[in-house]
Amino acid sequence: MDKFVIRGGNPLLGTVRVSGAKNAALPAMAAALLTEEPVILENIPQVRDIETTRKLLAAMGADVELGYGRAHHRTTICCRNLASPEASYELVKTMRASTLVLGPLLARCGRARVSLPGGCAIGARPIDLHIKGLEKLGATITQEHGYVEASAKRLRGAEIVFDKITVTGTEDLLMAATLADGETLLRNCAREPEVADLAGLLNKMGARIEGAGTSTIRVRGVSALSGAKHRIIPDRIEAGTFIIAGALTGGDLNVAGCEPRHLDSILQKLTEVGVKIAHNGDSVRVFGDGDWKASDMVTEEYPGFPTDMQAQYMVLATQAKGSSVITENIFENRFMHALELVRMGASIKVEGHRALVRGKTPLSAAAVLASDLRASASLVIAALVADGETIIDRVYHIDRGYEHIEEKLRGVGAQIRRIGEMLPKKVAAPLVRA
Ligand code: EPU
Repeated sequence: MDKFVIRGGNPLLGTVRVSGAKNAALPAMAAALLTEEPVILENIPQVRDIETTRKLLAAMGADVELGYGRAHHRTTICCRNLASPEASYELVKTMRASTLVLGPLLARCGRARVSLPGGCAIGARPIDLHIKGLEKLGATITQEHGYVEASAKRLRGAEIVFDKITVTGTEDLLMAATLADGETLLRNCAREPEVADLAGLLNKMGARIEGAGTSTIRVRGVSALSGAKHRIIPDRIEAGTFIIAGALTGGDLNVAGCEPRHLDSILQKLTEVGVKIAHNGDSVRVFGDGDWKASDMVTEEYPGFPTDMQAQYMVLATQAKGSSVITENIFENRFMHALELVRMGASIKVEGHRALVRGKTPLSAAAVLASDLRASASLVIAALVADGETIIDRVYHIDRGYEHIEEKLRGVGAQIRRIGEMLPKKVAAPLVRA
């Protein structure tokens, strides 16, 4: 298992470029299941979850070409022959977003068999709302042996009101509805930019979707979709992670290739804390003097402050003067990083879905454990400002969603190195001669 060794104290200086959004790329790849024709996706990040999705689609019979050389951020997916509309436990257990194939498979093939994802480090994360919605569209769904089995001759348009806002649930149902017979009205939808990006791709493929990006989406079903070419939006969470890292290290960092509109709630909160930010076109420049003041933060669905930035914000709160209350409203167990940050010298008390952070406390290097993707990012940020050399174990979590993070950070002055697990060599017993 790889580890990161990070020596703190260097300001981040220069320009770092943001990759395509993992959480927009995953549903876009699943959307290719809806057509026999090739779908070309650009700005695909080279991260582990994309490779997992390639394996998932390939196991069903799809041709998935991940680009290389100068085209390494392009992927072409052709799902002409789908021999087996199934997502196995082996893949779903490594990536919950695999359940995004349920809606498109059902719409295209009339049946789907998808493993239930099971537990997760950050919360229970059931998929009951995906299932309920598909049933509303006329699917027959059974659950057996850990799998969801769904079938429908042709899905029928319906009105679906989500009991709770769900990002991949909205995306799954949106994809299914594109090939349904008649009109579907989705209410209480997720408004994340990733949902709007998916709808943009689907419309290029011939779907008739209106309102994506708002809480009501109208889909008029069509009988078939065609191939299309689409560029994935920039990753707002990667951008936000670099912005906090730039501020905390007291650097002068230009985060390029992002979409500042998608960062509104993040930039607003950071400005409240006293982080100095300027944006120009597709770049956000962050520079800091370390004089931050505590500010409470509550995670919410978009356009609120994203849960995927909560762990990174917590590191900033440890370096701000005063007490900040951080409330996690989306997932029930997303504070695993807090205990690791305490080991690095932070003062954090977690009570239920609230964490009280008292700052400012100096951080000191320690051996820490990454528990999920965004928790890992927060530990990297903490290590960049800690005194000494931090070792972060289980960085495979960060590889799921951050493209070459250590190379990007090194490029702007961080001291960060990846090391593989070093096992002691088996030494042969010395020959004893008489
Ligand atoms: N929920 C249900 N039933 C459902 C679906 C969701 O109760 O059928 C609950 C969840 O348990 C959670 C809440 O609704 O409490 C919101 O979950 P949501 O479905 O929106 O999360 P998701 O779609 O599984 C996506 C992102 C996550 C991100 C969340 C929230 C992708 C692939 N994943 O997950 O990203 O945290 O939305 O914004 O888009 C990450 O990138 O690190 C990550 C975890």
